[in-house]
Amino acid sequence: MLFLSSRSGRKGPIACLVGLLLVFALYQLGIICGSTRYTPAAVMVSKEKYVIGPFDRKTYTYDRYMPLIFIGGVPRSGTTLMRAMLDAHPDVRCGQETRVIPRILQMKMHWSKSEKENVRLTEAGISKEVIDSAIAAFCLEIIARHAEPAPRLCNKDPLTLKMGSYILELFPNAKFIFMVRDGRATVHSIISRKVTITGFDLSSYRQSLIRWNHAISVMYGQCKELGPERCLMVPYEQLVLHPRQWMKKILNYLDVPWNESVMHHEEFINKPGGVPLSKVERSSDQIIKPVNLAALTKWVGNIPEDVVREMADIAPMLSVLGYDPYANPPVYGAPDSLVSDNTRRVLAGEKLWEEKARAYHLSHRPTETSNEEAASSTAPIA
Ligand SMILES: *[C@@H]1O[C@H](CO)[C@@H](O)[C@H](O)[C@H]1NC(C)=O
Repeated sequence: MLFLSSRSGRKGPIACLVGLLLVFALYQLGIICGSTRYTPAAVMVSKEKYVIGPFDRKTYTYDRYMPLIFIGGVPRSGTTLMRAMLDAHPDVRCGQETRVIPRILQMKMHWSKSEKENVRLTEAGISKEVIDSAIAAFCLEIIARHAEPAPRLCNKDPLTLKMGSYILELFPNAKFIFMVRDGRATVHSIISRKVTITGFDLSSYRQSLIRWNHAISVMYGQCKELGPERCLMVPYEQLVLHPRQWMKKILNYLDVPWNESVMHHEEFINKPGGVPLSKVERSSDQIIKPVNLAALTKWVGNIPEDVVREMADIAPMLSVLGYDPYANPPVYGAPDSLVSDNTRRVLAGEKLWEEKARAYHLSHRPTETSNEEAASSTAPIA
């Protein structure tokens, strides 16, 4: 610079500066080296999403990093009771099964399993990051907007737990509740209530128990992989026998403060901030009742003898989960007094509960609860 200025006098540096500015301006306009200039890939960022509470008029924002709660398990394992008890909490909303969330997750799983499809998607610029962002947005819209807003949102589509580790990729702060129940009770409920689940042959206890065993072992594997910080296993029988102790444990795990309302979910059916009910879900007629023991041992005496004899081989997951495959029924434990009282109320007032179901316009009357089943359910548990 010194040498330059000494040669060209005072005007030199100014001309030099103007020249540099001109080059810089042209560069900025992309006229010079426009095609070779490095440009980072443009990223489209969605606007912040929010919903407004219909009662409190508060704004609730939602995004992928919120601590969503996912309730999973084999259908007919107490997932609806679990979500009803959480729905009763003023800070939590689960809501009805969405049905479309497990379907889109399954579709995504099919896409990524196909080598050919993967190549085509990559060639089309649809990277894993893009597709995950799209699937997460789909799930989030459904979860956030299919029912009332709440500080903590939750989803109960039981089979999604099969894809738990993928859900955690979509929602890094999610937590899972894994409902586990004696497979014999689950299968009896599926068969007697005619709950259609893909892969389950409702005419065969043996086949259905094998399917149960497969489904629960996949979920058990996922829950283990997620780890104890992300997945809590809740045995249905223990939740029903000791609801206070278990809800304390569950809320503590979820970082949700204790509220007594979770002990009386039946008082919050279809109320603002309460338990929204679907008229067509199979479990709706059961969660209008308080936590009770009526469903615990209904299966006893209903499973064919050859299946009962070979239970340990047909459903090895029973032993893994701590259920004695040879006990019919096993000793689940002695209930808290609140639960015994509830059970007496439930069994004494069948008519009353049918009326309630009608009042809530439930399309599934508790017709499957035959007298024979109701009688066997009064048998002592311990
Ligand atoms: C439980 O929730 C109700 C309703 O929102 C609230 O009035 C009450 O203070 C809560 N109780 C506790 C212990 O937080």
